[in-house]
Amino acid sequence: MPAELISGTKVAEEIREELKVKVAELKKKGITPGLVMVRVGEDPASVSYVSGKTKASEEIGIHSETIVFPEQTTEQELLHKVEQLNKDPKFHGILVQLPLPKHIDADKVLNLINPQKDVDGFHPINVGKLLIGEPYFMPCTPHGVQELLVRSGNSPEGKHVVICGRSNIVGKPVMAILIQKKKGANATVTMVHTGTKNMAEVVRQADIVIAAMGSPKAITADMVREGAVVIDVGVNRVADATKKSGFRLVGDTDFDTIKEKAKAITPVPGGVGPMTITMLMQNTVRAAEMQAKSH
Ligand code: GUN
Repeated sequence: MPAELISGTKVAEEIREELKVKVAELKKKGITPGLVMVRVGEDPASVSYVSGKTKASEEIGIHSETIVFPEQTTEQELLHKVEQLNKDPKFHGILVQLPLPKHIDADKVLNLINPQKDVDGFHPINVGKLLIGEPYFMPCTPHGVQELLVRSGNSPEGKHVVICGRSNIVGKPVMAILIQKKKGANATVTMVHTGTKNMAEVVRQADIVIAAMGSPKAITADMVREGAVVIDVGVNRVADATKKSGFRLVGDTDFDTIKEKAKAITPVPGGVGPMTITMLMQNTVRAAEMQAKSH
């Protein structure tokens, strides 16, 4: 039987409706959640992500602004801007879109963001709090993966989850979230990466596969157990002359063959992508609520 499709678009819509209610309540108290995004250069994927976040903000009632710097901006200029934004009460959340140009030390920039405004959850304080099970902001894509699993009736509790890929923005934080002794987590987690010798064999043992290695169609049907749940975090642009844009998006899994074998799978696009943006909206609303309390 073909796999059930886990629609990130649908789950994201459900969460956005919940957020609209929260934003309306905040506005009654005179607070409009504010998000500022900083983009450096014109990387097409970054332009597209930031515009998606702007649209989502508008839909939910969050005030958003985007500051665009040219590619040759210096690290100093960017650091100065972050300092200003840290102090600006209009913005409850600050997001610096990655990747940054090579001449800028991204860690230095991310580490300067006030952890209480770090809606991406990338600051080392927030990474540490997540690992010890006291999250302040959960990073958006990993939290989106958890919400997708739980809200689609595939809770990871007690399941064997195999995470493919050990990046700081997806693989490692997904692990930190799913190993906690908490509702919607409490999974047995294995991680495979480029240093793993018998990757296919390990992935075949998974009840839930999370593909986040950034490699088009790297997870193939022979690596997936019959009846497994597959979450595809990959967003890879591959050339396609039949498309107006000249490319199409494919995930890290071979969707067409895996869907004949898996219990459930997320599509690309329309899976994890809309969830990432929605969890950013949730973090921004939460930032506004918490900053209102501390004033
Ligand atoms: N680039 C790719 N994913 C992300 C993300 O989640 N946040 C930021 N800031 N940049 C990204």
